[in-house]
Amino acid sequence: MTKQILLNAFDMNCAGHINHGLWTHPRDQSYRFNELNYWTDLAKTLERGLFDGLFIADIIGVYDVYQNNLDVTLKESVQLPSHDPMTLISGMAAVTTHLGFGVTVNLSYEQPYTLARRFASLDHLTQGRIGWNIVTGYLDSAERLFGRKTLAEHDLRYEQANEFLNVCYQYWEHSWQDDALRHDKTARIFTEPSKVHEVQHHGQFYQSQGVFQVSSSPQRTPVLFQAGASNAGMNFATTHAECIFIGGDTIAQVKQHVENIQQHLTKQGRARDEVKIFVGITVVTAETEQQAQDKFKEYQRYASPEAGLAHYSSSVGINLAQYDEHETIPYKKTNSIQSINKKFKSQSITPHQLKQQHQLGGRYPLFIGSGQQIAQQLIHFLDETGIDGFNLTRTVTPESYHDFIDWVIPELQQQGRYKTRYDAGTLRQKIFKQEPYLPAHHPAKQHALKKSDSYIK
Ligand SMILES: Cc1cc2nc3c(=O)[nH]c(=O)nc-3n(C[C@H](O)[C@H](O)[C@H](O)COP(=O)(O)O)c2cc1C
Repeated sequence: MTKQILLNAFDMNCAGHINHGLWTHPRDQSYRFNELNYWTDLAKTLERGLFDGLFIADIIGVYDVYQNNLDVTLKESVQLPSHDPMTLISGMAAVTTHLGFGVTVNLSYEQPYTLARRFASLDHLTQGRIGWNIVTGYLDSAERLFGRKTLAEHDLRYEQANEFLNVCYQYWEHSWQDDALRHDKTARIFTEPSKVHEVQHHGQFYQSQGVFQVSSSPQRTPVLFQAGASNAGMNFATTHAECIFIGGDTIAQVKQHVENIQQHLTKQGRARDEVKIFVGITVVTAETEQQAQDKFKEYQRYASPEAGLAHYSSSVGINLAQYDEHETIPYKKTNSIQSINKKFKSQSITPHQLKQQHQLGGRYPLFIGSGQQIAQQLIHFLDETGIDGFNLTRTVTPESYHDFIDWVIPELQQQGRYKTRYDAGTLRQKIFKQEPYLPAHHPAKQHALKKSDSYIK
């Protein structure tokens, strides 16, 4: 059977997310991100397009590396101001039935207990449509906000993340049996005491003992998203994640990345089909190729490649403004995103060339064409690389979502490569066509209640 394409919208609770500068376009509405209606309308739009999910990025901290200040970031609204993504979910869940929500939360500034409680609460309220994009951060500016000077060492952050997850798994998978809630008014038993269990965790970074506050939710553990791409990041992602995001400019790069993931998965004893791999993309489309090209040129007039560079500087932890336009950017080891920084090791690239790659202000692969052409290109990309789906960034919003839904989705459907209706069930069931809970051999399950506890059927 041909593989169906999975699709998330990739957005952030701010004006300038990936494709910088486009908030200045007269038709762009992203400045309304502080209105709940903006988000509920978006959720309804995405459900009209049968998107699997809305994936919401987030950062803690600000982009202050470029020129060693915040000027470009503030003027161009490069993910600043930006608001807490979790606050959006209940509102959007209330106006949709099927759309999933992947929310980014940086665990470095959280405690496992409180974060696990928020996700479990949202899993209840969304009826099992919540996912967590696990990140550990890459900004020294965030550390300073928390009274520290610099980021913890890159690989150590993943060690801490590993333990963080293991504590969360105990809350989600161990504390409450499925049938603990009785709601028996006559017997005056809301919860059956023998079916609620204590968690005991004594680790290197975290200590916790007691009962979790939230009863077992539709998925128990939210769908786990991750984007680690360094060696440590890849080990972490292939141990825990169910959905992995990757970057990559070319089919060859992405294909290699997918093969690398496959090797790591094998090492972890997991099969390739236990994870779904997504690539971030930008699309400009219209009824005809000419109209799409015209639209791209129009958008380009509003884009800010320099703001893209300010974003890039913070991603790699290097002030790219210090180099002349045509000077090769030297490789420097930093504590930020290793997988992006390594571009300077493998390629000779100047600030001018980087800006040229940021034609719409963002660094994701750009597809321009009619709906039919885009559908063909996406199918080709997916089939050649072995990925499972795409994270679609926005350009002029909500216009670019409507364009994709109106022009590309019907073409994908016609080719039998995109669903024509949603499946029933939780986000995990929809994506994997399996059970609502994590599969039995996922590491979270070592914390699950035993068969005798009547939790596993
Ligand atoms: C598509 C994609 C989306 C990401 N979104 C976020 C995000 O919202 N917040 C964040 O702090 N990091 C984000 N990251 C960065 C990752 O969390 C991670 O730092 C990065 O992939 C590099 O991992 P590495 O240090 O293992 O190379 C994203 C990465 C990718 C590829």
